[in-house]
Amino acid sequence: MTSKIDFQKTLFPGRDLEKEWKSRYGTYELPPLVELTNKRVDAHALLDEYNTYKGREHSIFEDEVIGYAFGLRYCTPEEYWPMVVHLPSDEATRVQKEVDEERNISWADHQRTLSVRQRLRSVIKLNEDYDPLIDERNYTKMPKNLRGGYIEGVLDMFRANTVRARFVRLRPGEKLVDHIDYNPKYCLKAHIPMTSQSLSYMKFFHKSLGEITYRMKPGRIYVINSGVRHEAINESLIHERIHLVISLDGQQDVFSYVGTNGFAYELPRKKRSWE
Ligand SMILES: [Fe+2]
Repeated sequence: MTSKIDFQKTLFPGRDLEKEWKSRYGTYELPPLVELTNKRVDAHALLDEYNTYKGREHSIFEDEVIGYAFGLRYCTPEEYWPMVVHLPSDEATRVQKEVDEERNISWADHQRTLSVRQRLRSVIKLNEDYDPLIDERNYTKMPKNLRGGYIEGVLDMFRANTVRARFVRLRPGEKLVDHIDYNPKYCLKAHIPMTSQSLSYMKFFHKSLGEITYRMKPGRIYVINSGVRHEAINESLIHERIHLVISLDGQQDVFSYVGTNGFAYELPRKKRSWE
């Protein structure tokens, strides 16, 4: 069944997603992690905002998409505990309702009929299997009690579109087992650690760079290429690891690091058509 809805025009007006996909860098063209060294975030201000935010602890995205649709059952919500900063846009919710009516099946049930490969393909191709609510790029609506606060200023520090932000907590002694999220052509992930502790770290398993361990510092901004297999470990027995994680729909923030010196590595650089 082909939908009557033109998803690109409705949800991504003025954009050519296919062209963007082709022009973006792939998993092994980007470093696994880049620190945006020219930017600093006030981690205390962010933590204050987080502590007073009476936010929703779950969203459909966390429950359905992470929990089921992408098959990423790598951690239970008790261990890795998100608090949403972005809800789906009104437009995405409206379009999803239309799609559900057209198909005569709820998006969550429809998703269960698809394989992981079909799901990922639908998000890239916006084809007949597409469900707006499983696409991070449609999570752009900030709840009222966060609007006008410091976090908005933090989102403004990025050049790319900031989508689906959330606070993620990794409990003491917990590990987020190694996994791949998706191709960085789709989204990159900015991590801003909010708590100061040296006992948590992230490990990447890169096919040419080998195993790399990063300890992130609070208030710094790290952009992660989650197409490279990675894991996160909190070895502290007392402290939670709290990060603000923001998905970036665009690679503008890491352009100057591509193929040159992401963190400390030289990567092969491909010439692009516009160079
Ligand atoms: Fe991940």
